Amino acid sequence: MSARIIDGRAAAALLRAQITEQVAALHYRPGLAVVLVGENPASAVYVRNKDRAANAVGIAAETLRLPADTAEADLLELVARLNADPEIDGILVQLPLPAHIRPRAVLEAVDPAKDVDGFHPVNMGRLLDGLASFAPCTPLGVMKLLATAELPLTGARALVLGRSQIVGKPMAALLTNADATVTVAHSRTRDLAAECRRAELLVVAVGRPEMVRGDWIAPGAVVIDVGINRLPDGRLVGDVAFAECAARAGAITPVPGGVGPMTIACLLENTLEAARHRRGGFPKI
Ligand code: GUN
Repeated sequence: MSARIIDGRAAAALLRAQITEQVAALHYRPGLAVVLVGENPASAVYVRNKDRAANAVGIAAETLRLPADTAEADLLELVARLNADPEIDGILVQLPLPAHIRPRAVLEAVDPAKDVDGFHPVNMGRLLDGLASFAPCTPLGVMKLLATAELPLTGARALVLGRSQIVGKPMAALLTNADATVTVAHSRTRDLAAECRRAELLVVAVGRPEMVRGDWIAPGAVVIDVGINRLPDGRLVGDVAFAECAARAGAITPVPGGVGPMTIACLLENTLEAARHRRGGFPKI
Protein backbone atom coordinates (compact mmCIF):
# COMPACT_ATOMS: atom_id res chain seq x y z
CA MET A 1 0.00 0.00 0.00
CA SER A 2 1.56 3.28 -1.07
CA ALA A 3 -0.96 6.05 -0.51
CA ARG A 4 -0.67 8.50 2.33
CA ILE A 5 -3.65 8.04 4.64
CA ILE A 6 -5.43 11.35 5.24
CA ASP A 7 -6.28 11.31 8.95
CA GLY A 8 -9.69 12.95 9.39
CA ARG A 9 -9.80 12.24 13.11
CA ALA A 10 -6.59 14.17 13.70
CA ALA A 11 -7.67 17.06 11.44
CA ALA A 12 -11.05 17.24 13.17
CA ALA A 13 -9.46 17.16 16.64
CA LEU A 14 -7.20 20.06 15.65
CA LEU A 15 -10.13 22.06 14.29
CA ARG A 16 -12.22 21.38 17.43
CA ALA A 17 -9.32 22.53 19.62
CA GLN A 18 -9.10 25.78 17.65
CA ILE A 19 -12.87 26.28 17.94
CA THR A 20 -12.76 25.60 21.70
CA GLU A 21 -10.15 28.34 22.10
CA GLN A 22 -12.11 30.80 20.01
CA VAL A 23 -15.39 30.10 21.81
CA ALA A 24 -13.67 30.53 25.19
CA ALA A 25 -12.54 34.00 24.12
CA LEU A 26 -16.11 35.16 23.46
CA HIS A 27 -18.19 36.95 26.09
CA TYR A 28 -21.23 34.78 25.22
CA ARG A 29 -21.89 31.13 24.36
CA PRO A 30 -22.92 30.48 20.78
CA GLY A 31 -26.28 28.67 20.70
CA LEU A 32 -27.15 25.75 18.44
CA ALA A 33 -30.62 24.22 18.15
CA VAL A 34 -30.76 20.70 16.73
CA VAL A 35 -34.25 19.59 15.72
CA LEU A 36 -35.05 15.90 15.43
CA VAL A 37 -38.50 14.78 14.28
CA GLY A 38 -39.35 11.12 14.79
CA GLU A 39 -37.26 8.14 15.75
CA ASN A 40 -34.99 7.32 12.82
CA PRO A 41 -32.22 5.40 14.66
CA ALA A 42 -29.36 6.66 12.47
CA SER A 43 -30.60 10.25 12.87
CA ALA A 44 -30.79 9.79 16.64
CA VAL A 45 -27.10 8.80 16.68
CA TYR A 46 -26.05 11.71 14.43
CA VAL A 47 -28.01 14.20 16.52
CA ARG A 48 -26.55 12.93 19.77
CA ASN A 49 -23.03 13.20 18.31
CA LYS A 50 -23.65 16.75 17.11
CA ASP A 51 -25.10 17.84 20.45
CA ARG A 52 -22.19 16.33 22.39
CA ALA A 53 -19.52 17.69 20.08
CA ALA A 54 -21.02 21.19 20.26
CA ASN A 55 -21.24 21.23 24.05
CA ALA A 56 -17.68 19.88 24.27
CA VAL A 57 -16.30 22.97 22.48
CA GLY A 58 -18.40 25.35 24.59
CA ILE A 59 -21.35 25.85 22.24
CA ALA A 60 -24.70 25.77 24.07
CA ALA A 61 -26.43 23.07 22.03
CA GLU A 62 -29.88 21.78 22.72
CA THR A 63 -31.71 19.01 20.93
CA LEU A 64 -35.43 19.54 20.39
CA ARG A 65 -37.13 16.19 19.88
CA LEU A 66 -40.57 16.12 18.27
CA PRO A 67 -42.83 13.10 17.74
CA ALA A 68 -42.98 11.48 14.29
CA ASP A 69 -46.59 12.65 13.80
CA THR A 70 -45.73 16.35 14.30
CA ALA A 71 -47.66 18.49 11.81
CA GLU A 72 -45.60 20.43 9.29
CA ALA A 73 -47.20 23.66 10.54
CA ASP A 74 -46.03 22.94 14.09
CA LEU A 75 -42.48 22.29 12.91
CA LEU A 76 -42.57 25.55 10.92
CA GLU A 77 -43.76 27.35 14.03
CA LEU A 78 -40.84 25.94 16.02
CA VAL A 79 -38.40 27.06 13.31
CA ALA A 80 -39.94 30.56 13.39
CA ARG A 81 -39.50 30.67 17.16
CA LEU A 82 -35.84 29.63 16.85
CA ASN A 83 -35.29 32.22 14.09
CA ALA A 84 -36.54 34.91 16.50
CA ASP A 85 -34.57 33.67 19.54
CA PRO A 86 -31.50 35.91 20.08
CA GLU A 87 -29.70 33.14 22.02
CA ILE A 88 -29.85 30.79 19.04
CA ASP A 89 -27.14 31.30 16.41
CA GLY A 90 -27.48 28.06 14.46
CA ILE A 91 -30.49 25.92 13.53
CA LEU A 92 -30.17 22.41 12.18
CA VAL A 93 -33.18 20.31 11.22
CA GLN A 94 -32.01 16.72 10.93
CA LEU A 95 -32.91 14.94 7.69
CA PRO A 96 -34.70 12.81 6.65
CA LEU A 97 -38.02 14.19 7.90
CA PRO A 98 -41.16 12.04 8.16
CA ALA A 99 -42.86 11.57 4.77
CA HIS A 100 -45.77 13.94 5.52
CA ILE A 101 -43.43 16.91 6.01
CA ARG A 102 -41.97 18.70 2.97
CA PRO A 103 -38.25 19.05 3.67
CA ARG A 104 -37.90 22.04 1.32
CA ALA A 105 -40.65 23.95 3.12
CA VAL A 106 -38.82 23.45 6.41
CA LEU A 107 -35.30 24.15 5.15
CA GLU A 108 -36.51 27.33 3.43
CA ALA A 109 -38.09 28.50 6.68
CA VAL A 110 -34.73 28.61 8.47
CA ASP A 111 -33.20 32.10 8.67
CA PRO A 112 -30.28 31.93 6.16
CA ALA A 113 -28.09 33.70 8.76
CA LYS A 114 -28.68 30.76 11.14
CA ASP A 115 -28.51 28.05 8.48
CA VAL A 116 -25.39 26.28 9.74
CA ASP A 117 -26.14 23.23 7.54
CA GLY A 118 -25.93 25.43 4.44
CA PHE A 119 -29.08 23.88 2.95
CA HIS A 120 -31.14 27.07 2.44
CA PRO A 121 -31.45 28.05 -1.24
CA VAL A 122 -30.04 31.50 -0.41
CA ASN A 123 -26.88 29.88 0.93
CA MET A 124 -26.69 27.46 -1.98
CA GLY A 125 -27.14 30.30 -4.45
CA ARG A 126 -24.54 32.45 -2.74
CA LEU A 127 -22.12 29.51 -2.74
CA LEU A 128 -22.54 29.17 -6.53
CA ASP A 129 -22.00 32.90 -6.83
CA GLY A 130 -18.77 32.67 -4.83
CA LEU A 131 -20.21 35.00 -2.15
CA ALA A 132 -20.06 34.66 1.63
CA SER A 133 -22.35 31.80 2.61
CA PHE A 134 -22.72 28.85 4.91
CA ALA A 135 -21.52 25.83 2.94
CA PRO A 136 -22.80 22.35 3.75
CA CYS A 137 -20.59 20.74 6.38
CA THR A 138 -19.48 17.58 4.56
CA PRO A 139 -18.07 19.25 1.43
CA LEU A 140 -16.60 21.98 3.64
CA GLY A 141 -14.85 19.25 5.64
CA VAL A 142 -13.49 17.76 2.41
CA MET A 143 -12.01 21.15 1.44
CA LYS A 144 -10.25 21.31 4.81
CA LEU A 145 -8.86 17.80 4.39
CA LEU A 146 -7.62 18.70 0.91
CA ALA A 147 -5.69 21.57 2.41
CA THR A 148 -3.68 18.90 4.26
CA ALA A 149 -3.22 16.75 1.13
CA GLU A 150 -0.75 19.08 -0.57
CA LEU A 151 -2.65 18.93 -3.86
CA PRO A 152 -2.68 22.35 -5.48
CA LEU A 153 -6.31 22.75 -6.53
CA THR A 154 -5.69 25.48 -9.10
CA GLY A 155 -6.18 23.87 -12.49
CA ALA A 156 -6.39 20.35 -11.00
CA ARG A 157 -8.64 17.85 -12.79
CA ALA A 158 -11.25 17.01 -10.15
CA LEU A 159 -14.06 14.51 -10.50
CA VAL A 160 -16.99 14.65 -8.10
CA LEU A 161 -18.83 11.35 -8.22
CA GLY A 162 -22.41 11.96 -6.97
CA ARG A 163 -24.74 14.94 -7.49
CA SER A 164 -26.71 15.22 -4.24
CA GLN A 165 -27.82 18.56 -2.82
CA ILE A 166 -25.96 17.81 0.42
CA VAL A 167 -22.59 16.72 -0.98
CA GLY A 168 -22.03 16.44 -4.75
CA LYS A 169 -23.40 19.78 -5.97
CA PRO A 170 -21.93 21.97 -3.21
CA MET A 171 -18.65 20.02 -3.47
CA ALA A 172 -18.45 20.88 -7.16
CA ALA A 173 -19.14 24.55 -6.35
CA LEU A 174 -16.46 24.71 -3.64
CA LEU A 175 -13.87 23.08 -5.91
CA THR A 176 -14.81 25.37 -8.80
CA ASN A 177 -14.48 28.40 -6.51
CA ALA A 178 -11.00 27.05 -5.59
CA ASP A 179 -10.06 27.07 -9.31
CA ALA A 180 -10.14 23.32 -9.89
CA THR A 181 -11.37 21.98 -13.24
CA VAL A 182 -14.45 20.10 -12.09
CA THR A 183 -16.46 17.30 -13.67
CA VAL A 184 -19.59 15.98 -11.96
CA ALA A 185 -20.30 12.31 -12.67
CA HIS A 186 -23.26 10.24 -11.49
CA SER A 187 -25.21 7.03 -11.98
CA ARG A 188 -26.03 7.91 -15.61
CA THR A 189 -22.46 8.81 -16.60
CA ARG A 190 -21.11 6.71 -19.47
CA ASP A 191 -17.86 4.86 -18.78
CA LEU A 192 -17.47 6.01 -15.23
CA ALA A 193 -14.20 4.11 -14.79
CA ALA A 194 -12.58 6.08 -17.64
CA GLU A 195 -13.83 9.38 -16.18
CA CYS A 196 -12.35 8.46 -12.81
CA ARG A 197 -9.00 7.49 -14.36
CA ARG A 198 -8.60 11.02 -15.74
CA ALA A 199 -8.97 12.60 -12.32
CA GLU A 200 -6.12 13.92 -10.20
CA LEU A 201 -8.67 14.39 -7.43
CA LEU A 202 -11.62 12.08 -6.95
CA VAL A 203 -14.38 12.86 -4.42
CA VAL A 204 -16.85 10.01 -4.12
CA ALA A 205 -20.33 10.42 -2.57
CA VAL A 206 -22.67 7.87 -4.11
CA GLY A 207 -23.76 5.71 -1.17
CA ARG A 208 -22.78 2.42 -2.84
CA PRO A 209 -20.36 0.24 -0.88
CA GLU A 210 -16.91 -0.15 -2.48
CA MET A 211 -18.14 0.86 -5.93
CA VAL A 212 -14.91 2.58 -6.98
CA ARG A 213 -12.30 -0.06 -7.80
CA GLY A 214 -8.50 0.11 -7.76
CA ASP A 215 -8.14 0.19 -11.54
CA TRP A 216 -10.35 3.32 -11.70
CA ILE A 217 -7.66 5.33 -9.91
CA ALA A 218 -4.94 7.29 -11.71
CA PRO A 219 -1.55 6.58 -10.16
CA GLY A 220 -0.87 9.20 -7.49
CA ALA A 221 -4.44 10.60 -7.43
CA VAL A 222 -5.98 12.01 -4.25
CA VAL A 223 -9.07 9.97 -3.32
CA ILE A 224 -11.69 11.32 -0.90
CA ASP A 225 -14.35 8.83 0.17
CA VAL A 226 -17.51 10.43 1.59
CA GLY A 227 -19.47 7.16 1.76
CA ILE A 228 -20.33 5.32 4.95
CA ASN A 229 -22.02 1.97 4.33
CA ARG A 230 -22.79 -0.85 6.74
CA LEU A 231 -22.29 -4.30 5.12
CA PRO A 232 -24.46 -7.29 6.07
CA ASP A 233 -21.49 -8.71 8.02
CA GLY A 234 -21.43 -5.51 10.13
CA ARG A 235 -18.31 -3.97 8.57
CA LEU A 236 -18.33 -0.25 7.86
CA VAL A 237 -16.98 0.59 4.40
CA GLY A 238 -16.89 3.59 2.11
CA ASP A 239 -17.89 4.01 -1.52
CA VAL A 240 -14.27 3.25 -2.46
CA ALA A 241 -12.62 -0.20 -2.32
CA PHE A 242 -9.98 1.02 0.11
CA ALA A 243 -7.11 -1.49 -0.17
CA GLU A 244 -7.21 -1.62 -3.99
CA CYS A 245 -7.41 2.14 -4.36
CA ALA A 246 -4.79 2.85 -1.70
CA ALA A 247 -2.35 0.72 -3.72
CA ARG A 248 -2.55 3.26 -6.58
CA ALA A 249 -3.53 6.56 -5.00
CA GLY A 250 -1.12 9.20 -3.74
CA ALA A 251 -3.37 9.99 -0.76
CA ILE A 252 -6.68 8.57 0.41
CA THR A 253 -9.20 8.99 3.22
CA PRO A 254 -10.14 5.90 5.26
CA VAL A 255 -13.68 4.95 6.34
CA PRO A 256 -14.24 5.38 9.21
CA GLY A 257 -11.85 8.13 10.29
CA GLY A 258 -11.74 10.20 7.10
CA VAL A 259 -14.41 12.68 6.07
CA GLY A 260 -16.92 11.73 8.82
CA PRO A 261 -15.23 13.46 11.78
CA MET A 262 -14.72 16.63 9.71
CA THR A 263 -18.45 17.01 9.04
CA ILE A 264 -19.31 17.65 12.67
CA ALA A 265 -16.23 19.81 13.24
CA CYS A 266 -17.37 22.01 10.33
CA LEU A 267 -20.86 22.27 11.82
CA LEU A 268 -19.25 23.66 14.97
CA GLU A 269 -17.19 26.09 12.91
CA ASN A 270 -20.27 27.26 11.00
CA THR A 271 -22.08 27.81 14.32
CA LEU A 272 -19.19 29.86 15.72
CA GLU A 273 -19.11 31.87 12.49
CA ALA A 274 -22.88 32.47 12.60
CA ALA A 275 -22.62 33.64 16.22
CA ARG A 276 -19.74 36.02 15.54
CA HIS A 277 -21.50 37.63 12.63
CA ARG A 278 -24.94 37.87 14.19
CA ARG A 279 -23.81 39.07 17.58
CA GLY A 280 -21.23 41.38 16.06
CA GLY A 281 -24.11 43.08 14.27
CA PHE A 282 -22.97 42.10 10.78
CA PRO A 283 -24.91 38.98 9.76
CA LYS A 284 -22.99 36.95 7.19
CA ILE A 285 -26.04 36.50 5.01
N1 GUN B 1 -28.91 13.97 7.34
C1 GUN B 1 -27.81 13.41 6.78
N2 GUN B 1 -26.81 14.31 6.73
C2 GUN B 1 -27.28 15.45 7.25
C3 GUN B 1 -26.71 16.73 7.48
O1 GUN B 1 -25.55 17.02 7.17
N3 GUN B 1 -27.51 17.64 8.07
C4 GUN B 1 -28.80 17.35 8.40
N4 GUN B 1 -29.51 18.32 8.94
N5 GUN B 1 -29.36 16.18 8.21
C5 GUN B 1 -28.58 15.24 7.63
